[in-house]
Amino acid sequence: MMKHIFVATDGSPTAHKAVEFAAEIAAKFGSELTIGHVLHRDSDIDEMAHMAEAEHLVEHAARKSQREFDVPPASMGSLFADIQSGAETARLITVIGDEILARAERRATDIGAKSVHKHSANGKPANAILDMAQEAGADMIVLGHRGLGRVRSLIQGSVSQKVNLHADCTVVSVR
Ligand SMILES: Nc1ncnc2c1ncn2[C@@H]1O[C@H](COP(=O)(O)OP(=O)(O)OP(=O)(O)O)[C@@H](O)[C@H]1O
Ligand SMILES: [Mg+2]
Repeated sequence: MMKHIFVATDGSPTAHKAVEFAAEIAAKFGSELTIGHVLHRDSDIDEMAHMAEAEHLVEHAARKSQREFDVPPASMGSLFADIQSGAETARLITVIGDEILARAERRATDIGAKSVHKHSANGKPANAILDMAQEAGADMIVLGHRGLGRVRSLIQGSVSQKVNLHADCTVVSVR
């Protein structure tokens, strides 16, 4: 176990902790580490306000946007407001996904993980996470126990629950 660790991040503060935990184990055991992200959808834009460092991500995405902003957007909502084209929305979601992965990779490398890979995918988060982890040959999947979702009454997020239920390998849920 722990030859190859797969950690999933949606950009949430809890997923950030999962990345740090996975990187610490990878650093200690010399494991390979793959960081996976399932691209958000239009319907997740409200949830995206919960991302760690959301302001910096908004700034980054606004710089990469084709729109000219009179006033720089202050939130995910105002970044995506008025975008008429589905293609531009999808492009910005990809920009944000790439940046979530790049930041997670930097954090993992800072912690001392030596062999770090990144992978992004489309689709339903739990299925895509299971597929990416299998493709990577992971023997452990690390996730946050919650993500960007807002239903605080849930003890554990639905993605985390599904992955735990269906994975063939060990799943660690970080709190
Ligand atoms: N789009 C995603 N890409 C990569 N990892 C994800 C994604 N969504 C969730 N995860 C992983 O699953 C963990 C738990 O998130 P989950 O989505 O299950 O909780 P939630 O957002 O609080 O609840 P829900 O989505 O059910 O409303 C996250 O910390 C992250 O590790
Ligand atoms: Mg979620």
